[in-house]
Amino acid sequence: MQGKKGIVILDFGGQYAHLIGSRVRRFGVFSEIKAAETPASELQNAAGIVLSGGPQSVYDADSPQADTAIFELGIPVLGICYGLHWMTKTLGGEVSEGKVKEYGPAKLKMKNVECKIIDQMPKEITVWMSHGDEACKLPEGFELFGTSDACANAAFADTERNFYAVQFHPEVTHSEYGDVFLKNFVSLCQADAWSMSNYKEQIAKQIQEQVGERKVFMLVSGGVDSTVAFALLNEVLGQDRVQGLLVDTGLMRKNEVSMIREAFTALGVNNLHIEDASTEFLQNLQGVYEPEEKRKMIGNTFLDVQRRVMSEKLKVNSEQFAKEWLLGQGTIYPDTIETGATKHADQIKTHHNRVEAIQNMIDQGLVIEPLQDLYKDEVRQLGEELGLPHGLVWRHPFPGPGLGVRILCAEEECKIDNVKCRMPSKVLPIKSVGVQGDGRTYRHALAVFSDQSFVVTDDIVQLATDVPNREADINRVLLCTSHAEPMDFVFSSGYITKERADLLREADAIVDAEVRSADLYEAIWQFPVVLLPFGTTDGGQSVVLRPIASTDAMTANAVVLQEEVLESITTNLMAISGIDAVFLDLTNKPPGTIEWE
Ligand code: XMP
Repeated sequence: MQGKKGIVILDFGGQYAHLIGSRVRRFGVFSEIKAAETPASELQNAAGIVLSGGPQSVYDADSPQADTAIFELGIPVLGICYGLHWMTKTLGGEVSEGKVKEYGPAKLKMKNVECKIIDQMPKEITVWMSHGDEACKLPEGFELFGTSDACANAAFADTERNFYAVQFHPEVTHSEYGDVFLKNFVSLCQADAWSMSNYKEQIAKQIQEQVGERKVFMLVSGGVDSTVAFALLNEVLGQDRVQGLLVDTGLMRKNEVSMIREAFTALGVNNLHIEDASTEFLQNLQGVYEPEEKRKMIGNTFLDVQRRVMSEKLKVNSEQFAKEWLLGQGTIYPDTIETGATKHADQIKTHHNRVEAIQNMIDQGLVIEPLQDLYKDEVRQLGEELGLPHGLVWRHPFPGPGLGVRILCAEEECKIDNVKCRMPSKVLPIKSVGVQGDGRTYRHALAVFSDQSFVVTDDIVQLATDVPNREADINRVLLCTSHAEPMDFVFSSGYITKERADLLREADAIVDAEVRSADLYEAIWQFPVVLLPFGTTDGGQSVVLRPIASTDAMTANAVVLQEEVLESITTNLMAISGIDAVFLDLTNKPPGTIEWE
């Protein structure tokens, strides 16, 4: 627990464990996510425990179990959803399959009882529910304080022992007063105050301890995280004990490599080596279509290049490297959960910094990830404290595999029948990754068409929620901004090639410039531009705009661009030779993910 009394979240496999963690930190208290099975003896230093939600039923044979001794630690415990079920069953209550499954918004009515955890909250609020099971009998000592239409025992507490259980998810923004509720719990825990500034000193100490007499070979992608990690290592260890490597994968954005080189030179950094490996990456990706295979190929090629540069530049072999060096990565806290790093979570995507070879090095203690406990907003705060330029720290997040995950690949057209929709619509002949009910999906996108194709109406926004909920084959909804009516698609089998990368680079640069000139850059959290392997002519391609708002990438809302911005971007993209159609992705996360692959 980093020597500080903070709050531990025991992870039962819900995708939202990190939302609980980041909320708690924003209240000025340290939080840490641990495996559900963590022995109570390792939690002695915690000020409070949150039991997260999870995809299973407590009656499943292999359902996750925590150590029952946590209830004897004398600290507050809050169970959310599965956490409520497990707490109920463990303390002598009963859980059963609910009469109706409750997904989405629900009205929670509070009873007239004294309970500090609902201080400053009204008697009726809308909350977010996502459950099949429910508590049908409360454990002894517990009193009911909240009920929803579909769930009689939706919130209850044993205020004597400071045990609280709620069926709803206070950590998601859709739950009104969710922040107030969590803050009330955190206040009950009487944890130590925590802040990023103090934490920097602690990280510096940890770096010194972990590195010892060794040096660090740091992989810099140019994104915010690895840039901050590199600057931090330089400050703590000195440039002579750190070697940075920026690999030009051929999948970088336009002018990105030169921009990063200039920014670091201006900061007086002279230990960053830039290696052009674009030919090698493109060669290895020939004929690779499947998203996970692409990620693994990119991750492994990174490692090959790193090994080569290491032996050429540092003149060390792998044995010497293991003795004298550590490999540095800019991994941040949420990067680990979506790779399925926590035991009970479904695997959504393999992040390039968690491919098998890296995992083996981590297991051997050969990797240092100084930002591994931080959330994105905290990384940015640290970047500012290290004196990095504002423009570098506030760049939109960019995935390690770069444009590689934005050039959608498909060997064959994948067609399904059109689905019912109240607007003219057409299912796209390719699939993309999504996340629904804590699990990964790989489904089609539905494009809708309108005479006023630059106007995003409330109806279209509503469709983006309704259709993926209703249609088992659809996980995204897009508005076509280049065509008013459904057109015939001409599919061209496509993997990553230099031509496709150049085309996307051009499209991405146009979008970037438009967004900056409309003064929207900092209002949008991230703006992936995706290339799809079909158009309206032979070999033609389509572009998807994916502007989103988020705080930590765990959940995201699609950003509705203004009419004039959408018109200008579409017109400029359609002027590029090879681009036949433009779509705006209006899907939230969930059910879509931010990237398409
Ligand atoms: P998704 O698409 O899962 O993305 O909603 C969440 C955030 O993670 C970024 N992302 C990646 N970052 N390596 C990375 O370093 C990856 O393989 C990767 N895949 C997605 C994505 O850009 C978004 O900010």
